[in-house]
Amino acid sequence: MTGPPARRRTVLATGAMSALLLGCSEYGDENDGGGGGAPGGKELTGTADVPVGGGKVFKDEKVVVTQPEKGDFKAFSAVCTHAGCVVARVSDGTIDCTCHGSRFRVADGSVAGGPAPKPLPARRITVEGDSISLA
Ligand code: FES
Repeated sequence: MTGPPARRRTVLATGAMSALLLGCSEYGDENDGGGGGAPGGKELTGTADVPVGGGKVFKDEKVVVTQPEKGDFKAFSAVCTHAGCVVARVSDGTIDCTCHGSRFRVADGSVAGGPAPKPLPARRITVEGDSISLA
């Protein structure tokens, strides 16, 4: 029965505050590991590596990223809809499959030539600052 109760209340309140703050910083970091800092998915490349009017093929990820107009990034499956080769390169505004000569437009993946029966399906990417990641 000694000591002023008001003082004890102050100490408890401070303790609760710091517990809350600690809780916040833990919940803010909920990436489930191994991402290397890119939220949402694996980082593919930097925006500066994708030429305007062209694009870049990522064979391992089977993705092609294009930049039809400055600052407008798109991504498509890099698996050719003809017979399943991974497209080889982006050149002169088209994504080219060298297996049998199919070409797809960088703007929307639609068929520009060759035997491919369908457009390249779109893939989702996230552009954050100057970094492009799979979504
Ligand atoms: Fe691409 Fe045939 S697999 S053109």
